[in-house]
Amino acid sequence: MRRVIIAGNWKMNKNLQESIDLANFIKRSLFDIADVEIVICPPFTSLSDVEEVIMDSNIKMGAQDVYWEKEGAFTGEISCSMLKSAGCEYCIVGHSERRLLFGETNETVNKKTKALLREGLKPIVCVGEKLEERKNGRTFSVVKDHVEKSLSGLTRDQMLKIIIAYEPVWAIGTGLNATKDEAQEVHKYIRSLLKAMYDEELAKSVRIQYGGSVKPDNIKELISQEDVDGALVGGASLKADSFCAIVKNCL
Ligand code: 13P
Repeated sequence: MRRVIIAGNWKMNKNLQESIDLANFIKRSLFDIADVEIVICPPFTSLSDVEEVIMDSNIKMGAQDVYWEKEGAFTGEISCSMLKSAGCEYCIVGHSERRLLFGETNETVNKKTKALLREGLKPIVCVGEKLEERKNGRTFSVVKDHVEKSLSGLTRDQMLKIIIAYEPVWAIGTGLNATKDEAQEVHKYIRSLLKAMYDEELAKSVRIQYGGSVKPDNIKELISQEDVDGALVGGASLKADSFCAIVKNCL
């Protein structure tokens, strides 16, 4: 049984006080939710203060990126152990904004994923095609490339700790979400890739989130799909009301 997981990716939003306020509101509103795994991903500067707020609650925390080296002269970068010591359990890697704006590649995503697993953190690995690629009928080949290369060389046990987020780039921040059928089609395809890479049992166990213009009014039909196990939410995670409504609409 795959437990539904809703994660809020705050991206480059919320200063320290705004982060604390949002985390407090979410904690208070969702304290009695046990059937959905809830994760918030604040910016680096807010992590340890948000951890103070959500400590001992049902809300978990993730970071939005990481660097794979353990420590050293890598100005501006953040290591896995730093994230862990700040209270993170999860970390997003390979987000399309990082792939498109900051030169992230499947190879760097793979290094980050392995480094997180070594440190006991759970990677949320993002994959997904651009509009042009979808129009040219390349959705499956792009997703295959992202999945196989970003997740190459993982043991079966490591793979079981991964969350995959299917985020079609054309649906991110556009208000134009994938339909439930479009999402299901790709999620099912990702599961078939996992089956080919490992086995059927593993493919059935890994959780696959959908991301891209998820809102309170479309989450229900998205997670009603057999292979959609939750959502990675951007814009709608920045307002407590909409994020909490998304979580509650999964019940
Ligand atoms: P939006 O929900 O704003 O479309 O963003 C999705 C996303 O990129 C989550 O990582």
